[in-house]
Amino acid sequence: MIEKQVKQIVEKIAVNDYIMENMFCAPKGALGWLGGQLMSQDHWLPAWVLDLLEVHPSDSVLEVGSGPGVGMQLAAERAYQGTVVGIDPSETMLEMAHRRNRPLIEAARIELHLGSVEEPPFADATFDKAMTMNSLHLWPNQVAGLREIKRILRPGGRIAVAFTRFSYTSADKFRRQLLDAGFTDVSLHTGEPGTCALGRA
Ligand SMILES: C[S@@+](CC[C@H](N)C(=O)[O-])C[C@H]1O[C@@H](n2cnc3c(N)ncnc32)[C@H](O)[C@@H]1O
Repeated sequence: MIEKQVKQIVEKIAVNDYIMENMFCAPKGALGWLGGQLMSQDHWLPAWVLDLLEVHPSDSVLEVGSGPGVGMQLAAERAYQGTVVGIDPSETMLEMAHRRNRPLIEAARIELHLGSVEEPPFADATFDKAMTMNSLHLWPNQVAGLREIKRILRPGGRIAVAFTRFSYTSADKFRRQLLDAGFTDVSLHTGEPGTCALGRA
């Protein structure tokens, strides 16, 4: 009897893991598309993060784990003389981000790259600002990923690591990781949209 219940619980967890993985962690197929639709509802977090980052009109902005592309769309409104680049390992997310931002991509204001934070295909000191939202916990080595972002930020450039209020994540744990990756001026912010840690390259 107990064995049967345990088996049912284990099966439920496995199904939940499968759904979470395919919807949000490595979005793929129909579940990934559904996850992307849900993620696209939150404009509040990226708008708040862009405020904290103080994005200027001529900035070049990188978004790591750019998902369905809302953050890039909002960043392009603020960096209207600059460029916005997104990188994400999910083809489903890139397709959704492409559909959302087609006119800006055609106008060469937004660029999308299939790839991950482990090996971002950008030269040293390329970007003024970098942001990553609801993604860092998925990276295989978080400090190594942050170091890569530091490499491709210009000296003095800024990074924002943020999570939605629904994640119930505290920004405290990102302070150490940002410092270990070589960022300075680390500050932690909690607001209604979520939590965010800022650092300077
Ligand atoms: C929960 S989604 C968040 C998407 C978007 N930033 C948002 O907040 O709506 C996590 C994203 O991180 C991406 N991701 C996972 N591992 C990654 C990695 N190693 N490097 C870069 N992005 C990654 C996933 O493909 C997915 O699009």
